[in-house]
Amino acid sequence: MRYKIALIRGDGIGPEIVGETVKVIDKIGEKFGHTFEYVDVLMGGCATDAVGVSYPEGTAELCKACDAVLLGAVGGPKWGSDRPAAERPETALLAIRKDLGLYANLRPAALRPALAEACPLKRETAEKGIDLLVVRELTGGIYFGKRDKYQTEDRGLEATDLMAYSELEIERIGRRAFEMARLRRKKVSSVDKANVLETSRLWRTVMHRLAEEYSDVRYEDVLVDNCAMQLVRDPGQFDVVVTENMFGDILSDEASMITGSIGLLPSASMGDGAPALYEPIHGSAPDIAGQDKANPIAAILSAAMMFRYSFRLADEADAIEGAVDRALAEGWRTADIARPGESAVGTKRMGEAIRANI
Ligand code: IPM
Ligand code: MG
Repeated sequence: MRYKIALIRGDGIGPEIVGETVKVIDKIGEKFGHTFEYVDVLMGGCATDAVGVSYPEGTAELCKACDAVLLGAVGGPKWGSDRPAAERPETALLAIRKDLGLYANLRPAALRPALAEACPLKRETAEKGIDLLVVRELTGGIYFGKRDKYQTEDRGLEATDLMAYSELEIERIGRRAFEMARLRRKKVSSVDKANVLETSRLWRTVMHRLAEEYSDVRYEDVLVDNCAMQLVRDPGQFDVVVTENMFGDILSDEASMITGSIGLLPSASMGDGAPALYEPIHGSAPDIAGQDKANPIAAILSAAMMFRYSFRLADEADAIEGAVDRALAEGWRTADIARPGESAVGTKRMGEAIRANI
Protein backbone atom coordinates (compact mmCIF):
# COMPACT_ATOMS: atom_id res chain seq x y z
CA MET A 1 0.00 0.00 0.00
CA ARG A 2 0.92 3.62 -0.47
CA TYR A 3 0.41 6.20 2.29
CA LYS A 4 0.83 9.94 2.39
CA ILE A 5 2.08 11.38 5.69
CA ALA A 6 2.16 15.07 6.60
CA LEU A 7 5.26 15.91 8.65
CA ILE A 8 5.18 18.84 11.03
CA ARG A 9 8.76 18.79 12.25
CA GLY A 10 8.27 21.96 14.29
CA ASP A 11 10.67 23.47 16.79
CA GLY A 12 13.39 22.51 19.26
CA ILE A 13 14.03 18.77 19.21
CA GLY A 14 11.07 18.26 16.82
CA PRO A 15 13.13 17.97 13.61
CA GLU A 16 15.60 15.51 15.17
CA ILE A 17 13.02 13.11 16.55
CA VAL A 18 10.85 13.28 13.42
CA GLY A 19 13.99 12.58 11.34
CA GLU A 20 14.64 9.35 13.26
CA THR A 21 10.96 8.39 13.11
CA VAL A 22 10.79 8.80 9.33
CA LYS A 23 13.72 6.40 9.02
CA VAL A 24 11.84 3.89 11.18
CA ILE A 25 8.71 4.26 9.03
CA ASP A 26 10.78 3.70 5.89
CA LYS A 27 12.33 0.60 7.39
CA ILE A 28 8.84 -0.75 8.07
CA GLY A 29 7.97 0.09 4.46
CA GLU A 30 10.91 -1.95 3.20
CA LYS A 31 10.09 -4.88 5.41
CA PHE A 32 6.33 -5.01 4.86
CA GLY A 33 6.19 -3.66 1.30
CA HIS A 34 4.57 -0.25 1.75
CA THR A 35 5.55 3.07 0.24
CA PHE A 36 5.35 6.35 2.08
CA GLU A 37 5.18 9.81 0.64
CA TYR A 38 5.97 12.70 2.97
CA VAL A 39 4.60 16.22 2.78
CA ASP A 40 6.48 18.77 4.88
CA VAL A 41 4.13 21.19 6.61
CA LEU A 42 5.49 24.39 8.14
CA MET A 43 3.92 25.13 11.52
CA GLY A 44 5.00 26.47 14.91
CA GLY A 45 7.72 28.89 15.91
CA CYS A 46 9.69 27.99 12.80
CA ALA A 47 6.72 29.16 10.73
CA THR A 48 6.61 32.44 12.67
CA ASP A 49 10.28 32.96 11.83
CA ALA A 50 9.81 32.06 8.17
CA VAL A 51 6.49 33.67 7.30
CA GLY A 52 5.41 35.72 10.33
CA VAL A 53 2.64 33.47 11.68
CA SER A 54 2.75 30.11 13.47
CA TYR A 55 -0.19 28.67 11.54
CA PRO A 56 0.21 29.69 7.89
CA GLU A 57 -2.84 29.67 5.68
CA GLY A 58 -3.53 26.31 4.11
CA THR A 59 -1.87 24.30 6.89
CA ALA A 60 -5.03 22.33 7.68
CA GLU A 61 -5.74 21.74 3.96
CA LEU A 62 -2.23 20.34 3.42
CA CYS A 63 -2.80 17.94 6.31
CA LYS A 64 -6.29 16.99 5.15
CA ALA A 65 -4.81 15.85 1.82
CA CYS A 66 -2.74 13.24 3.72
CA ASP A 67 -3.63 9.92 5.37
CA ALA A 68 -2.09 10.92 8.70
CA VAL A 69 -0.08 13.69 10.34
CA LEU A 70 3.11 13.22 12.36
CA LEU A 71 4.12 16.13 14.56
CA GLY A 72 7.44 16.51 16.41
CA ALA A 73 6.92 19.40 18.83
CA VAL A 74 6.23 23.10 18.62
CA GLY A 75 7.11 25.95 20.95
CA GLY A 76 10.04 27.55 22.70
CA PRO A 77 11.05 30.58 24.76
CA LYS A 78 11.79 32.52 21.59
CA TRP A 79 8.05 32.71 20.89
CA GLY A 80 6.80 33.44 24.41
CA SER A 81 3.51 34.70 25.79
CA ASP A 82 4.59 38.31 25.17
CA ARG A 83 4.17 37.70 21.43
CA PRO A 84 0.87 38.29 19.62
CA ALA A 85 -1.31 35.16 19.48
CA ALA A 86 -0.74 34.62 15.75
CA GLU A 87 3.01 34.28 16.34
CA ARG A 88 2.79 31.83 19.24
CA PRO A 89 3.32 28.13 18.42
CA GLU A 90 0.62 27.01 20.89
CA THR A 91 -1.95 28.93 18.85
CA ALA A 92 -1.09 26.74 15.88
CA LEU A 93 -1.36 23.56 17.90
CA LEU A 94 -4.83 24.43 19.17
CA ALA A 95 -5.90 25.56 15.68
CA ILE A 96 -4.83 22.37 13.95
CA ARG A 97 -6.62 20.25 16.57
CA LYS A 98 -9.79 22.28 16.04
CA ASP A 99 -9.54 22.46 12.23
CA LEU A 100 -8.98 18.72 11.86
CA GLY A 101 -11.74 18.00 14.41
CA LEU A 102 -9.37 16.02 16.64
CA TYR A 103 -11.54 15.84 19.74
CA ALA A 104 -10.12 12.60 21.15
CA ASN A 105 -6.56 12.52 22.42
CA LEU A 106 -5.29 9.06 23.37
CA ARG A 107 -2.26 9.07 25.64
CA PRO A 108 -1.19 5.58 26.69
CA ALA A 109 1.14 5.36 29.66
CA ALA A 110 2.68 1.96 30.13
CA LEU A 111 5.71 0.91 32.10
CA ARG A 112 7.94 -0.90 29.58
CA PRO A 113 9.39 -4.11 31.02
CA ALA A 114 13.02 -3.10 30.45
CA LEU A 115 12.47 0.19 32.24
CA ALA A 116 10.83 -0.93 35.48
CA GLU A 117 13.88 0.54 37.23
CA ALA A 118 13.15 3.98 35.77
CA CYS A 119 9.78 4.14 37.53
CA PRO A 120 10.13 6.72 40.32
CA LEU A 121 7.47 5.00 42.47
CA LYS A 122 8.02 2.40 45.17
CA ARG A 123 9.21 -0.95 43.88
CA GLU A 124 6.04 -2.73 45.13
CA THR A 125 3.98 -0.25 43.18
CA ALA A 126 6.01 -0.63 39.99
CA GLU A 127 5.88 -4.41 40.26
CA LYS A 128 2.09 -4.33 40.03
CA GLY A 129 2.56 -2.83 36.58
CA ILE A 130 1.29 0.37 34.98
CA ASP A 131 -0.75 0.24 31.79
CA LEU A 132 -3.28 2.98 31.45
CA LEU A 133 -4.74 5.08 28.68
CA VAL A 134 -5.66 8.70 29.22
CA VAL A 135 -8.48 9.71 26.86
CA ARG A 136 -8.38 13.48 26.88
CA GLU A 137 -11.06 15.69 25.35
CA LEU A 138 -9.08 17.95 23.03
CA THR A 139 -11.22 20.54 21.28
CA GLY A 140 -13.45 21.93 24.02
CA GLY A 141 -13.49 23.28 27.54
CA ILE A 142 -11.37 26.09 28.90
CA TYR A 143 -8.83 25.78 26.08
CA PHE A 144 -11.39 27.00 23.57
CA GLY A 145 -13.80 29.09 25.68
CA LYS A 146 -14.19 32.84 25.47
CA ARG A 147 -11.29 34.76 26.99
CA ASP A 148 -11.24 38.30 28.20
CA LYS A 149 -9.05 40.81 30.00
CA TYR A 150 -10.39 44.13 31.11
CA GLN A 151 -9.86 46.98 33.54
CA THR A 152 -12.02 47.03 36.66
CA GLU A 153 -12.78 50.12 38.71
CA ASP A 154 -11.19 49.04 41.96
CA ARG A 155 -9.42 45.70 41.47
CA GLY A 156 -6.97 46.45 38.68
CA LEU A 157 -7.00 44.26 35.61
CA GLU A 158 -9.20 41.18 35.56
CA ALA A 159 -8.99 38.16 33.24
CA THR A 160 -11.45 35.33 32.54
CA ASP A 161 -11.35 32.02 30.66
CA LEU A 162 -14.67 30.33 30.10
CA MET A 163 -15.03 26.57 30.43
CA ALA A 164 -18.02 25.23 28.49
CA TYR A 165 -19.01 21.70 27.53
CA SER A 166 -22.00 20.44 25.58
CA GLU A 167 -23.66 17.04 25.84
CA LEU A 168 -22.54 16.32 22.30
CA GLU A 169 -18.89 16.97 23.15
CA ILE A 170 -19.03 14.87 26.30
CA GLU A 171 -20.88 12.00 24.71
CA ARG A 172 -18.50 11.57 21.77
CA ILE A 173 -15.38 11.51 23.96
CA GLY A 174 -17.14 9.23 26.42
CA ARG A 175 -18.00 6.77 23.65
CA ARG A 176 -14.37 6.77 22.54
CA ALA A 177 -13.30 5.91 26.08
CA PHE A 178 -15.80 3.04 26.47
CA GLU A 179 -14.88 1.65 23.02
CA MET A 180 -11.19 1.74 23.92
CA ALA A 181 -11.91 0.05 27.27
CA ARG A 182 -13.61 -2.81 25.44
CA LEU A 183 -10.31 -3.46 23.65
CA ARG A 184 -8.40 -3.37 26.94
CA ARG A 185 -9.27 -4.34 30.53
CA LYS A 186 -12.84 -3.02 30.35
CA LYS A 187 -12.67 -0.34 32.98
CA VAL A 188 -13.39 3.37 32.61
CA SER A 189 -12.49 5.95 35.27
CA SER A 190 -14.13 9.26 34.47
CA VAL A 191 -12.33 12.19 36.05
CA ASP A 192 -14.09 15.43 36.94
CA LYS A 193 -14.58 18.05 39.64
CA ALA A 194 -18.32 17.53 40.08
CA ASN A 195 -18.21 18.71 43.67
CA VAL A 196 -17.51 22.21 42.35
CA LEU A 197 -18.02 22.64 38.60
CA GLU A 198 -21.27 22.69 36.64
CA THR A 199 -19.45 21.42 33.53
CA SER A 200 -18.32 18.43 35.60
CA ARG A 201 -21.86 17.69 36.78
CA LEU A 202 -23.05 17.61 33.17
CA TRP A 203 -20.00 15.51 32.30
CA ARG A 204 -20.98 13.01 35.00
CA THR A 205 -24.63 12.81 33.91
CA VAL A 206 -23.62 11.99 30.34
CA MET A 207 -20.97 9.47 31.44
CA HIS A 208 -23.50 7.68 33.66
CA ARG A 209 -25.84 7.36 30.68
CA LEU A 210 -23.03 5.78 28.67
CA ALA A 211 -22.03 3.52 31.57
CA GLU A 212 -25.51 2.01 31.45
CA GLU A 213 -25.28 1.47 27.72
CA TYR A 214 -21.79 -0.10 28.00
CA SER A 215 -22.79 -2.31 30.91
CA ASP A 216 -19.99 -4.80 30.14
CA VAL A 217 -17.45 -2.11 31.09
CA ARG A 218 -16.77 -1.33 34.75
CA TYR A 219 -17.21 2.36 35.48
CA GLU A 220 -16.23 4.76 38.25
CA ASP A 221 -16.24 8.51 38.91
CA VAL A 222 -13.00 9.94 40.27
CA LEU A 223 -12.48 13.52 41.42
CA VAL A 224 -9.49 15.08 39.70
CA ASP A 225 -7.53 15.86 42.87
CA ASN A 226 -8.02 12.30 44.07
CA CYS A 227 -6.98 11.00 40.64
CA ALA A 228 -3.72 12.97 40.78
CA MET A 229 -3.04 11.34 44.13
CA GLN A 230 -4.08 7.81 43.08
CA LEU A 231 -1.77 8.00 40.05
CA VAL A 232 1.25 8.04 42.32
CA ARG A 233 -0.24 5.84 45.05
CA ASP A 234 -1.60 2.97 42.98
CA PRO A 235 -1.58 3.58 39.21
CA GLY A 236 -2.21 -0.12 38.54
CA GLN A 237 -5.90 0.44 39.38
CA PHE A 238 -6.45 2.47 36.19
CA ASP A 239 -7.26 1.18 32.72
CA VAL A 240 -8.96 3.94 30.69
CA VAL A 241 -9.06 7.40 32.27
CA VAL A 242 -11.38 9.79 30.45
CA THR A 243 -11.39 13.48 31.22
CA GLU A 244 -11.84 17.02 29.95
CA ASN A 245 -9.18 19.00 28.15
CA MET A 246 -7.25 20.75 30.92
CA PHE A 247 -7.48 17.95 33.50
CA GLY A 248 -6.23 15.60 30.76
CA ASP A 249 -3.30 17.88 29.96
CA ILE A 250 -2.17 17.86 33.57
CA LEU A 251 -2.86 14.22 34.42
CA SER A 252 -1.19 12.93 31.25
CA ASP A 253 2.08 14.62 32.18
CA GLU A 254 1.84 13.00 35.60
CA ALA A 255 0.99 9.62 34.08
CA SER A 256 3.96 9.86 31.75
CA MET A 257 6.47 10.54 34.47
CA ILE A 258 5.51 7.49 36.54
CA THR A 259 6.51 5.33 33.56
CA GLY A 260 10.05 6.66 33.72
CA SER A 261 10.32 9.60 31.37
CA ILE A 262 8.09 11.94 29.47
CA GLY A 263 10.42 11.13 26.55
CA LEU A 264 8.74 7.74 26.12
CA LEU A 265 5.09 8.47 25.62
CA PRO A 266 3.28 8.76 22.30
CA SER A 267 -0.16 10.12 21.56
CA ALA A 268 -2.84 10.03 18.92
CA SER A 269 -5.38 12.75 18.33
CA MET A 270 -8.40 11.74 16.33
CA GLY A 271 -11.78 12.87 15.15
CA ASP A 272 -14.44 11.01 13.23
CA GLY A 273 -12.51 10.77 9.96
CA ALA A 274 -8.99 11.01 8.54
CA PRO A 275 -6.42 12.31 9.08
CA ALA A 276 -5.52 11.71 12.70
CA LEU A 277 -2.47 13.40 14.19
CA TYR A 278 0.30 11.62 16.06
CA GLU A 279 2.77 13.31 18.35
CA PRO A 280 4.95 12.63 21.37
CA ILE A 281 3.40 14.15 24.47
CA HIS A 282 6.63 15.91 25.42
CA GLY A 283 7.43 19.40 24.25
CA SER A 284 10.17 20.91 22.12
CA ALA A 285 12.87 20.76 24.87
CA PRO A 286 14.76 23.83 23.57
CA ASP A 287 17.50 23.31 26.17
CA ILE A 288 18.76 20.20 24.37
CA ALA A 289 17.68 21.03 20.81
CA GLY A 290 20.16 20.33 18.04
CA GLN A 291 22.52 18.42 20.34
CA ASP A 292 21.58 14.86 19.43
CA LYS A 293 20.43 14.25 23.00
CA ALA A 294 16.64 13.90 22.74
CA ASN A 295 14.91 10.59 23.22
CA PRO A 296 13.22 9.67 19.91
CA ILE A 297 11.15 6.86 21.47
CA ALA A 298 7.96 8.87 22.06
CA ALA A 299 7.93 9.99 18.44
CA ILE A 300 8.71 6.49 17.17
CA LEU A 301 5.93 4.99 19.32
CA SER A 302 3.62 7.69 17.94
CA ALA A 303 4.36 6.27 14.49
CA ALA A 304 3.39 2.84 15.83
CA MET A 305 0.04 4.32 16.87
CA MET A 306 -0.29 5.75 13.36
CA PHE A 307 0.11 2.28 11.85
CA ARG A 308 -2.38 0.83 14.30
CA TYR A 309 -5.14 3.43 14.14
CA SER A 310 -4.81 5.28 10.83
CA PHE A 311 -3.47 2.55 8.55
CA ARG A 312 -5.01 -0.37 10.46
CA LEU A 313 -1.71 -2.25 10.16
CA ALA A 314 -1.38 -3.97 13.52
CA ASP A 315 1.60 -6.19 12.57
CA GLU A 316 3.59 -3.15 11.54
CA ALA A 317 2.66 -1.37 14.79
CA ASP A 318 3.70 -4.45 16.80
CA ALA A 319 6.99 -4.55 14.90
CA ILE A 320 7.82 -0.99 15.94
CA GLU A 321 6.79 -1.46 19.57
CA GLY A 322 8.68 -4.75 19.77
CA ALA A 323 11.79 -3.13 18.30
CA VAL A 324 11.66 -0.39 20.94
CA ASP A 325 11.39 -2.97 23.71
CA ARG A 326 14.24 -5.05 22.28
CA ALA A 327 16.51 -2.00 21.91
CA LEU A 328 15.79 -1.10 25.54
CA ALA A 329 16.40 -4.70 26.62
CA GLU A 330 19.77 -4.57 24.83
CA GLY A 331 20.58 -1.70 27.17
CA TRP A 332 20.36 1.30 24.85
CA ARG A 333 19.48 4.41 26.85
CA THR A 334 19.19 8.08 26.05
CA ALA A 335 20.20 10.52 28.81
CA ASP A 336 16.64 10.94 30.16
CA ILE A 337 16.29 7.24 30.96
CA ALA A 338 19.88 6.32 31.79
CA ARG A 339 20.42 5.60 35.48
CA PRO A 340 23.40 7.03 37.30
CA GLY A 341 26.48 5.20 36.01
CA GLU A 342 24.77 3.94 32.83
CA SER A 343 26.15 5.36 29.61
CA ALA A 344 23.76 7.22 27.35
CA VAL A 345 23.57 7.42 23.57
CA GLY A 346 22.19 10.18 21.39
CA THR A 347 19.01 10.51 19.35
CA LYS A 348 20.54 9.05 16.19
CA ARG A 349 22.15 6.04 17.84
CA MET A 350 18.91 5.21 19.63
CA GLY A 351 17.02 5.45 16.33
CA GLU A 352 19.57 3.12 14.73
CA ALA A 353 19.31 0.61 17.57
CA ILE A 354 15.53 0.52 17.16
CA ARG A 355 15.74 0.09 13.37
CA ALA A 356 18.22 -2.72 13.78
CA ASN A 357 15.55 -4.54 15.81
CA ILE A 358 12.86 -4.29 13.13
C1 IPM B 1 0.04 19.15 25.29
C2 IPM B 1 0.68 20.50 25.47
C3 IPM B 1 -0.24 21.54 24.86
C4 IPM B 1 -1.58 21.44 25.56
C5 IPM B 1 0.30 22.98 24.92
C6 IPM B 1 1.66 23.10 24.28
C7 IPM B 1 -0.66 23.97 24.31
O1 IPM B 1 0.92 20.74 26.81
O2 IPM B 1 -0.19 18.74 24.14
O3 IPM B 1 -0.20 18.48 26.29
O4 IPM B 1 -1.75 21.98 26.65
O5 IPM B 1 -2.48 20.79 25.01
MG1 MG C 1 0.60 19.08 28.08
